[in-house]
Amino acid sequence: MSSPPAMSSSAKVVVIGAGIAGLASAATLTQAGFEHVQVLEAMCRPGGRINSTRPFGPDVIEMGANWIHGQEGNPVFSLAKRHGLLSRNDCSSVKCQLDSFTPCDYFFREDGALVSQAGVEQVCDLFSKLMSRAFNDELEGKFHCKNLGQYLDEAFADSPVASSFEDAVKVFEWCKRNACTDEASSSLYEVSALQLKEYTSLEGGYYNSLGPGGYQAVVDVLLKILPPGALLCDRPVTHIQWGLDSQAKGSFCPVKVLCEDGQEFEADHVIVTSSLGFLKERASAMFEPALPEDKIGAIERLGFGTVDKIFLRFSERFWPEDCAGIQLVWEEGLEDRSVYCMLSEGRAWLESWYKKICGFDIVAHHPTVLCAWITGREAQYMETLQEEEVGRVCVRLLRSFTGWSVPEPTQILFSTWWSNPYVKGSYTFIPYGMNGVREHQALAAPLPNSTVCTEKKVPLSTAQ
Ligand SMILES: Cc1cc2nc3c(=O)[nH]c(=O)nc-3n(C[C@H](O)[C@H](O)[C@H](O)COP(=O)(O)OP(=O)(O)OC[C@H]3O[C@@H](n4cnc5c(N)ncnc54)[C@H](O)[C@@H]3O)c2cc1C
Ligand SMILES: *[C@@H]1O[C@H](CO)[C@@H](O)[C@H](O)[C@H]1NC(C)=O
Ligand SMILES: *[C@@H]1O[C@H](CO)[C@@H](O)[C@H](O)[C@H]1NC(C)=O
Repeated sequence: MSSPPAMSSSAKVVVIGAGIAGLASAATLTQAGFEHVQVLEAMCRPGGRINSTRPFGPDVIEMGANWIHGQEGNPVFSLAKRHGLLSRNDCSSVKCQLDSFTPCDYFFREDGALVSQAGVEQVCDLFSKLMSRAFNDELEGKFHCKNLGQYLDEAFADSPVASSFEDAVKVFEWCKRNACTDEASSSLYEVSALQLKEYTSLEGGYYNSLGPGGYQAVVDVLLKILPPGALLCDRPVTHIQWGLDSQAKGSFCPVKVLCEDGQEFEADHVIVTSSLGFLKERASAMFEPALPEDKIGAIERLGFGTVDKIFLRFSERFWPEDCAGIQLVWEEGLEDRSVYCMLSEGRAWLESWYKKICGFDIVAHHPTVLCAWITGREAQYMETLQEEEVGRVCVRLLRSFTGWSVPEPTQILFSTWWSNPYVKGSYTFIPYGMNGVREHQALAAPLPNSTVCTEKKVPLSTAQ
């Protein structure tokens, strides 16, 4: 018995999006013998949230993904290793950890004083311990119904560290603000504490760096697997008509994909890899028939936050050689519960958007460049500003916190992941009160589901 064409390697598969997920699916299908794989990418280049650029000379600046998180069982790590793409002197000279501070970070207070190293260490160690408890499913029962910010505040207040020195609470606020970059959230008060346990950290170093080709080198490996013509860029998909069995006219192409320029593609299977941010904005108008309730619900309920990087290039280094980062400790920071509550309504937060910047970190291979991280609505607002304005604000912060003589930057660059219409944010988080596992399963489940038309299965799956 011959299998229907949809199940065989002659099936037509359209992959929407040429980020790492789309390219990996297309490459996998190609290697499995599928000959009709078409990748449609809206932007003018493949890579999606991987954007390795060279604005400051030959060495890469990563505007998006930077590290390979974990080694064992990590397909990206295996691929990079197999093709010799990993950095040789991994984690040697420069800071390669984002969330844990290094002894070489300088923590400055608003009044220009340095916070004691021992104090910083104490608070950051406790913070890591509290986060690990949540990740390892060791949260005490009383914290199960708390958001992450509340849990951390309460557990911190219970600890003698909170009153061990005068800046402890302020450093703790810095830790929370900094953790927003991992959670891609506007605030930890919006993140579920209980659901962190669903995140699986893979064994092996967590901040594996790539070599001179940057993350783009991984994208290139996948691209090389595809046959010529398999990838079409500048092809935004506007509509996906699925379940078109009556129109199949003998051929088995139950899906039609329509592009913005009017081009149409027929397919037996469609794999949608648009970001959750894009789907939040477009999914309800994009699919015909509409996606089932549970999928639309998952798209609405899961969180997709914004994380941006700001790069400042100077003509010379003005920080000490042993300094790995300049961290900003505010008198009243945005992740202080009272400040968060006060600013949660109205537009007053616009005035203090820059207080969401965690600090300025040194950048591998770029001795005169600093990178600032910013998250949430403040990052979204930052994206609307001119480069000069953002540069001015950063220099003002650097001067007033450090008291050093800070020259004007020669170049300023920031990412715009929120403004990018095909990304609309940076990555996913599980909001307080959600069942993340159920929502992720609903989002990933193929369509139609197995109870509908078992004869003509039209798998259509959405990733994030
Ligand atoms: C600032 C930042 C830092 C990060 N740091 C790290 C890190 O250090 N390590 C790490 O592992 N991850 C990191 N990430 C996350 C990582 O970049 C993403 O998880 C990953 O790149 C997502 O790949 P993807 O293929 O799923 O989605 P995407 O990269 O978003 O690819 C989807 C593609 O689909 C295209 N598309 C969308 N809609 C349409 C449409 N309608 N028609 C046609 N094409 C469409 C988009 O243009 C895009 O190219 C970071 C992300 C950001 C933003
Ligand atoms: C990638 O980064 C460069 C800046 O170096 C920018 O011009 C470009 O728009 C970015 N692309 C995306 C998709 O963000
Ligand atoms: C499958 O889809 C049908 C119709 O949309 C729905 O009623 C049913 O609950 C779905 N089943 C599963 C397991 O999702």
